Amino acid sequence: LEVVVLVSGSGSLLQALIDAEADAAARGQRSPFTIVSVGADRECAGLQRAMLAGIPAFVVDTAHFADRDAWDEALADAVERSFDDDSDDPDAPPHLVVSAGFMKILGATTLARHTVINTHPALLPSFPGAHGVRDALAHGVKITGTTCHVVDAGVDTGPIIAQRAVEVRADDDEDSLHERIKVEERDMLVDVVRRFARGWSINGRTVLINE
Ligand code: GRF
Repeated sequence: LEVVVLVSGSGSLLQALIDAEADAAARGQRSPFTIVSVGADRECAGLQRAMLAGIPAFVVDTAHFADRDAWDEALADAVERSFDDDSDDPDAPPHLVVSAGFMKILGATTLARHTVINTHPALLPSFPGAHGVRDALAHGVKITGTTCHVVDAGVDTGPIIAQRAVEVRADDDEDSLHERIKVEERDMLVDVVRRFARGWSINGRTVLINE
């Protein structure tokens, strides 16, 4: 499975995928997935992690484009170029785009040409959007968590692949709760990407991963 990871921030989720791939190699095992490149919408720490890991990286900055559609097409092209095989090769490995803390809404071109999964630090459909952790805390829920889902045209609305529960503690603030969520998120994301290598399909809103 060839993977392109999209980041906008610290890249701790990207780092979990980098470490999982390296751990497999260190154990002499073939990793079920290969990160072929990392894309970002801006300069960010996630890009530094890619460079440290020797993974090609690209930036498609919204500021450089006249409108969102032009940006979306440029992003789709950059992702396409990252998958280094010719698309008509029947034995070419499957492709997956992982949005790992990517803070831009992907457009129709990218979603038409690539399969994208995303993680969200709340139990969707609760608390979608850019402040899922803060909203859950403000609402006073006792259990929140993280969701991995297929990206569709909406915001955090695509079919759910996996979820992990995280308890909310009385002394939590947004940062302490988000850090605990990210521990579960990293483990969930690596598990989902590994399993996606075996193949998957969608039936309505149900995502089926081949066991
Ligand atoms: C993750 O919690 C992700 O779900 C959310 O932003 C965070 C990204 O963290 N969208 P990082 O940039 O991978 O450290």
